Amino acid sequence: MKIGICSDHAGFAYKTRLITYLRRKGYETVDFGTDSEVSMDYSDVAHPLALAVEKGEVDLGIAFCGTGNGMAMTLNKHKGIRAGLAWTSEIGRLVKAHNNANVLVMPARFISFRMATSITRTWLETEFEGGRHQRRIEKMVSW
Ligand code: RB5
Repeated sequence: MKIGICSDHAGFAYKTRLITYLRRKGYETVDFGTDSEVSMDYSDVAHPLALAVEKGEVDLGIAFCGTGNGMAMTLNKHKGIRAGLAWTSEIGRLVKAHNNANVLVMPARFISFRMATSITRTWLETEFEGGRHQRRIEKMVSW
């Protein structure tokens, strides 16, 4: 599985460490930046990641910013993206099981790196439940 990953400056350290973690677990990763802790605008990396997910160039995406909100708001402007913000493992599970999030967003300034790995692992290993949740995610873009 190929995972695209991006962050702004606030999430740069966690992005770097998570790429190492994912590669050790056997996932292929594509790094969409940013490349340092120099202040930058999250939208400049969120849009390229969203397009790559929409085009199928990567299977799933992961994004970090300080609160997670800037990334989630930007990513969700794309019709083919369901970006879900998670800060506990249980939310990471539910955002896949119920919302089928194709991009996981985490708030780097408000969770430990250990929590970030736990959320990521849970989200990756959880299957979408379908059924009533399929109907609900369809209404996100057509109502
Ligand atoms: C950067 O200071 C911060 O605003 C950003 O990482 C994010 O939290 C925005 O939503």
